[in-house]
Amino acid sequence: MNTPPTPPSAPYPLAIIGAGALGLSFATRLARTGRVAVIARSAERAQALLQGIEVGGTLRHFDVFGADQAPQADWVIVLVKTGDTTEAALTAAAMAPKGVLSLQNGLVEDLLRAACPGLSVGQGVTTEGAYRDDSDRVHPSGAGETLLPAGFEAVAELLVGAGFTARVVADIVPVRLAKLLVNAAINPLAALFRVTNGELLSAPHRVLLDALIAEAWPVLHAHGLALDEATAHARVHAVASATAANRASMLQDVLAGRPTEIDAITGVLFSMADAAGMEVPTHRAVHTLVRTVADARLSPAHRRAGLRP
Ligand SMILES: NC(=O)c1ccc[n+]([C@@H]2O[C@H](COP(=O)([O-])OP(=O)(O)OC[C@H]3O[C@@H](n4cnc5c(N)ncnc54)[C@H](OP(=O)(O)O)[C@@H]3O)[C@@H](O)[C@H]2O)c1
Repeated sequence: MNTPPTPPSAPYPLAIIGAGALGLSFATRLARTGRVAVIARSAERAQALLQGIEVGGTLRHFDVFGADQAPQADWVIVLVKTGDTTEAALTAAAMAPKGVLSLQNGLVEDLLRAACPGLSVGQGVTTEGAYRDDSDRVHPSGAGETLLPAGFEAVAELLVGAGFTARVVADIVPVRLAKLLVNAAINPLAALFRVTNGELLSAPHRVLLDALIAEAWPVLHAHGLALDEATAHARVHAVASATAANRASMLQDVLAGRPTEIDAITGVLFSMADAAGMEVPTHRAVHTLVRTVADARLSPAHRRAGLRP
């Protein structure tokens, strides 16, 4: 049995909450240039990870802690699925950081703020990618770009130092809304039709893809999306085309019987539509369908945990 790392007297410069595909992918690269703490859901999971885990074809060892033993850290990056955000944010708050940054999909900043009163919180956007296979091996899937909100310059510096393409942008809101548009259009349809992202560009899926973009655009535009409608369509089509062979994360979650992130994506769009006095009926229909399909496949463990798909 490996011994858990002794928490050092000096705080870790950086911690990552979420020892999953993206969290371990980030931690692997960050650990090459500095100390990074990885926080797993439980002490048992942390103990298992201390034996090492394969990331990118190489066995890696991390300074890994269960959430209850999380050490102090200057900065915390949250990389759990959105349904676990509040629990992870409470862990982050207990680590006495200077700031808590989410790089999750969907919009979760309000959840972070509620769980971390008085702390600097923010949500950035990353196009880095990774997936976990059935044997719990992590496969980073190509480098991307990470954009951070103002106030997280120190985190950007750590990321750049570790070889990431990362920078702070003055106004992160339009960036987050453009990502939300892409996720709200592609993810639910890929999950329902069980097709790759690229297949959404052809009939019969394309009709719904374009309907979802057309409905979401005025809502997101009213909240600060900086793209005109034609560019919004072009943006989603370009992402579907660039990731043509990929299976969207919501499709992977449904197939694996895990809860989906639909509430942090389409559910957030509903709140924004309500606030703007607009209707998004196709998104509401798709949301209901994803819930129905995902609920039917939810694994017994997740069902017992009372999690919603
Ligand atoms: N993967 C990508 O390519 C990618 C790209 C861009 C954005 N994202 C976003 O990044 C986030 C993470 O995605 P992912 O693919 O890395 O998911 P993932 O592989 O499921 O990893 C999430 C990890 O968080 C752990 N976790 C859950 N609750 C926790 C808690 N309270 N404390 C500590 N750890 C906890 C999970 O543990 P268990 O295994 O015990 O549940 C799991 O290991 C999602 O919002 C996703 O949409 C992912």
